[in-house]
Amino acid sequence: MLHQFLGGAVLGMLCLGVPATAGPLASPKRGLAFTPNTSFPQDNTIWTTKPSDLTWYYNYQPNPSSDFESVPQSEFEFVPMLWGTPSSPSDTTFLETVKKLKNKINITNVLSFNEPDGPFKYGGSNMDPDVAAEVWVRNLEPLRAMGIRVGLPACTGAPSGLAWLKLFLNSCSKVLSNGGPTRNCTFDFVTLHWYGGFEGLASHMGEYSATFPNKTMWITEYNLDHQDLMSTQSFYNTSAEYFDRLDFVERYSLFGAFRSHVSNVGPNAAMLSSDGQLTDIGAWYLGREGTGVQPTSGDGKSGGFRSSPSMMALAGAVIAAAAFRF
Ligand SMILES: *[C@@H]1O[C@H](CO)[C@@H](O)[C@H](O)[C@H]1NC(C)=O
Ligand SMILES: *[C@@H]1O[C@H](CO)[C@@H](O)[C@H](O)[C@H]1NC(C)=O
Ligand SMILES: *[C@@H]1O[C@H](CO)[C@@H](O)[C@H](O)[C@H]1NC(C)=O
Ligand SMILES: *[C@@H]1O[C@H](CO)[C@@H](O)[C@H](O)[C@H]1NC(C)=O
Ligand SMILES: *[C@@H]1O[C@H](CO)[C@@H](O)[C@H](O)[C@H]1NC(C)=O
Repeated sequence: MLHQFLGGAVLGMLCLGVPATAGPLASPKRGLAFTPNTSFPQDNTIWTTKPSDLTWYYNYQPNPSSDFESVPQSEFEFVPMLWGTPSSPSDTTFLETVKKLKNKINITNVLSFNEPDGPFKYGGSNMDPDVAAEVWVRNLEPLRAMGIRVGLPACTGAPSGLAWLKLFLNSCSKVLSNGGPTRNCTFDFVTLHWYGGFEGLASHMGEYSATFPNKTMWITEYNLDHQDLMSTQSFYNTSAEYFDRLDFVERYSLFGAFRSHVSNVGPNAAMLSSDGQLTDIGAWYLGREGTGVQPTSGDGKSGGFRSSPSMMALAGAVIAAAAFRF
């Protein structure tokens, strides 16, 4: 993340002059990119507390988060992710995990690699496209054959993203064809990330549409990072309206479900203030009225610590998530 790419515009999709929206609009396309912090377990249930329009979540891992165990999959769909290279390219742990999970909950979508074109230090999974192809063929093709919908890897918004995907798809075809007649790796939707302004976002989406015609799109991380509050809110409004209007945008998840003082995309992009209250953007994202809460308000401590039986289980999951995200 945090790569900004403003060149190479495909402007066909750009559609400015968005009418002002009257009040917050709920959207069933919205989901949660879940990046919990063990210091604030009380924040984890904010996203599923009604009223909330969030219909799905991912946590960068194959297994669901214990915080949401009591929420039915039909209301808040967990989407497993194969984050990066397993211990060996022939490893099929992800496949086995999802198969097992599917016996318990209705898994219908999975996400593949997280920013494989990006280095570890920025949260990327830093994958060799050839190795990624081996991993894909062993883990994701069988899931797709079972009827589970599979997303193409979510690259960074930098030019390296589409370049990586092209290498990956070529290699994937070779692995799958295995010397026989050509077969291509298949996927159900494209997945993308964007950090930067709205025009760049629209142009980036245009490039994906041109490269993968007629494919449904999920925007699984996006925000205007490190900008003033007015610009950030304006970006939020414009992009939400854009995603909601476009039929080919199936789902989106704002990267911002955390407190402002631990945000690596700047405090104004966070959905929670430093004492854990929903900011305007946080409330709008859940389909509610704005709160007027300043992102930077609070001391980073309050919020009333509440221990829960699931906390120990959560701690393990959080460490894994935190290791690559912040
Ligand atoms: C964003 O939209 C909300 C209503 O959903 C509105 O109150 C607010 O003024 C808008 N902000 C900007 C900067 O467009
Ligand atoms: C699983 O979810 C899909 C998509 O929402 C739905 O079509 C299907 O009926 C569900 N299956 C079960 C067994 O609930
Ligand atoms: C595989 O994909 C390539 C590149 O998109 C395309 O030219 C080719 O026709 C496809 N082959 C098959 C068998 O689908
Ligand atoms: C994309 O969809 C349109 C309308 O359904 C169709 O006319 C066109 O052939 C499709 N293009 C591709 C490449 O599948
Ligand atoms: C979690 O919150 C603590 C306390 O504010 C902070 O020091 C730490 O950096 C946060 N961890 C992550 C991974 O953001």
